[in-house]
Amino acid sequence: MLFWRIAALFVDKDQSSFAMPGTCVIGLQWGDEAKGKIVDILTRDHDFVVRYQGGANAGHTVVVGDQVYKLSLLPSGILTPGVTCVIGTGVVLNPARVIEELDELAQRGAGHPEKLRISDRLHVIFPWHFAEDLALDKSTSDGENIGTTGRGIGPCYRDKVGRSHAVRLGDMYRPTFRAQVEHIVAAKNRVLAVLYPVKEFKLLDAAAILDQYSAYAERLRPYVADTNELLLSAAESGKRILFEGAQGALLDVDHGTYPFVTSSNSSGVGISSGSGVPARHFGRMIGVVKAYSTRVGGGPFPTELDNPIGQRLRDRGNEYGTVTRRPRRCGWLDTVAVRYTSRLSGVTSISVMLLDVLSGLEELKICTAYQVDGQQRTSFPSHVDDLRRVQPVYETLPGWKEEITGCRSFDELPDNGRAYLRRISQLVGQPIEMVSVGPERDQTIIIKKS
Ligand code: GDP
Ligand code: IMO
Ligand code: MG
Repeated sequence: MLFWRIAALFVDKDQSSFAMPGTCVIGLQWGDEAKGKIVDILTRDHDFVVRYQGGANAGHTVVVGDQVYKLSLLPSGILTPGVTCVIGTGVVLNPARVIEELDELAQRGAGHPEKLRISDRLHVIFPWHFAEDLALDKSTSDGENIGTTGRGIGPCYRDKVGRSHAVRLGDMYRPTFRAQVEHIVAAKNRVLAVLYPVKEFKLLDAAAILDQYSAYAERLRPYVADTNELLLSAAESGKRILFEGAQGALLDVDHGTYPFVTSSNSSGVGISSGSGVPARHFGRMIGVVKAYSTRVGGGPFPTELDNPIGQRLRDRGNEYGTVTRRPRRCGWLDTVAVRYTSRLSGVTSISVMLLDVLSGLEELKICTAYQVDGQQRTSFPSHVDDLRRVQPVYETLPGWKEEITGCRSFDELPDNGRAYLRRISQLVGQPIEMVSVGPERDQTIIIKKS
């Protein structure tokens, strides 16, 4: 009898923690799928918005009326009042950049940073990380550049895992910070002297770096917190948490197109490790998919269109990097890749973005399989050299002439637009929850409410 009473207590506890599960927004391609827009739309139904990996390599665009916000480190929820925004443990933080973002929002009279919290466990980017990023941007497999954003992301994550030359945000408030930086600068000066030609090498100055970073630490002090404890308590008490992915699942360091990836787990598998919140608190997993494909930087891209159609997608979709302004490489939608990343990320629905960019094309192609060595495969290759060798197998669908930016329901879309979406849903194996037909909040069609 006593046993069952105790068991019942545990069951109740479990049910309460599932009452308001977390929502996760994950890019399923190579980034820039318009995750920022989806997060902004969903924020009003949540108490917390959490960035959990990546850093200022991300560029998330939120359009509110005639105002365009480009956010790199601040969660896209920062534009909505009443929401606690968290920069979680798995992020690598460039303090100068986050301060710039806060200042820019303040100047524009926008944003709600009062409830911003930044993990004291996260790792901090220092000047040596930028220097190493620029010097070391070579792929290990064949000498081709990865084409990083140059934001020091890889070197900072490398030091985090290496442990001897790493600084966490919480370290900056401790008496040992000075000695820590002096020790690291001495070691990094030796490394950089080898990486850079004598003429270009500039010795790092520990005292100047300490002054600069101590000022950043003071500025950020009100926001620094144990966000693991904050988020665990929030999840356990049924608060609604929205997890905002950066980059896309094909850039995941373990599961993406390695080595042409970023240095964090940008697919759904990285949400727990980056936020410190276990997966049992996630309920709704939204995969964000552009209606075509884009990629910035190096690496294989089977459906790339290096032709006038690719240029048309670039022009109509304004496909220029948010962070670096590099032209994005454009191509047809690849459902071999997206089916793989949606399974990997455990998505429960997809949102199809920038559908309006395809308006006016005579016909549209969707990659449904890869042809290699005379055989077709629908699994995504694990080695980048095998991905380089595949030929996309395309299915051709008729396009539509109408502009669709004014459509607000699935039924208002042209027949061929609806058929294109249905086919994507079938091939990826997921229901479509939202369709985006323009950058603004209201240019969104909600199909299925989860
Ligand atoms: P993120 O990194 O995934 O947040 O995406 P980015 O902000 O880097 O890139 C997406 C771009 O597409 C931004 O400029 C958005 O304003 C824009 N955008 C979002 N949704 C739509 C849409 O449905 N149609 C068009 N034409 N642009 C969109
Ligand atoms: P959002 O969040 C698109 C790409 C870079 C490069 C590779 C490694 O806006 O979708 P890094 O600087 O991370 O070491 O660069 O990853 N990359 C992105 N591409 N969108 C992003 O972020 C990206 N973040 C990194 O172009 O190819
Ligand atoms: Mg982006």
